[in-house]
Amino acid sequence: MWFMFAGALIFLAVVLSVIYILIRFNRNRGHAPSQGGGSRTFEITSTFLALGLVGIFMVYAVITMAHIQPNSISSSGQPDVVITGHQWWWDFYYPKYDLHSANELHIPAGGKVLAKVVSADVIHSWWVPALGRKMDMIPGKNNWVVIQANTPGTYEGTCSEFCGQQHAWMRIKVFAQSEKNFKEWVSGHGKPAVEPKGALAMEGKKMFMQKSCTGCHFIKGITDEKFIGPDLTHIASRETMLGGLEVYSKENLKRWLRNPRNVKPGVHMPNFIFTEHELDALVAYLNELK
Ligand code: CUA
Repeated sequence: MWFMFAGALIFLAVVLSVIYILIRFNRNRGHAPSQGGGSRTFEITSTFLALGLVGIFMVYAVITMAHIQPNSISSSGQPDVVITGHQWWWDFYYPKYDLHSANELHIPAGGKVLAKVVSADVIHSWWVPALGRKMDMIPGKNNWVVIQANTPGTYEGTCSEFCGQQHAWMRIKVFAQSEKNFKEWVSGHGKPAVEPKGALAMEGKKMFMQKSCTGCHFIKGITDEKFIGPDLTHIASRETMLGGLEVYSKENLKRWLRNPRNVKPGVHMPNFIFTEHELDALVAYLNELK
């Protein structure tokens, strides 16, 4: 930092010189400078001096970037969380706990959380301004970013690379929790989905298994791992749904299932043309997945 600061002093010297020259050689005040030819030696020297200085600063910047960029740290270690950008939602996978979640990220406050960011389709960009830098998610490439919340709280972010029709509804909510609360969250969310209790919910589960839901969505304990759509194992414990477009509620869930593309135009989930009763059964089931 001090080296770069010294560089800034050169800039200050240049600005002060320009101001001095503007005043000292002001034609209106009768101080016009003599109009001699230039000095080749001076011009060559100053050009290479400037190039050399910029070159030195660049080397310093690149060395520093290698230190703060976690690519080098992580090549050996495991990420705390793998974040996958999808059109238009986020998948969070915690390898240490073999746990998936969607759209709402839970992290322990205080420490550094090492995230590997990848894309399932097009270029997205992870960005929660309060918790660190922005990082692009590029198909076929692993990028790394450190996420750090100094104090517990809820932090908001958004996808910051245009990724299609619903790019605006690819919001991020990060819950930074105390170590204890985070552990509780992990143990709760690591569990397989609960068995439905109500009769309608049991019917909903049967439908979930029979219709094509399992082709895209994962519910731990009852389906194979599929992450074409968000994990639904504990969907009813989320605050929001649809990448932040709606708060989570039975009403919004039903409206969504009735015709997803009405709620979020362009979304990949098709309209399954459920009957009113089927909608109620599915919603009853999903709403028990706390
Ligand atoms: Cu994803 Cu914009």
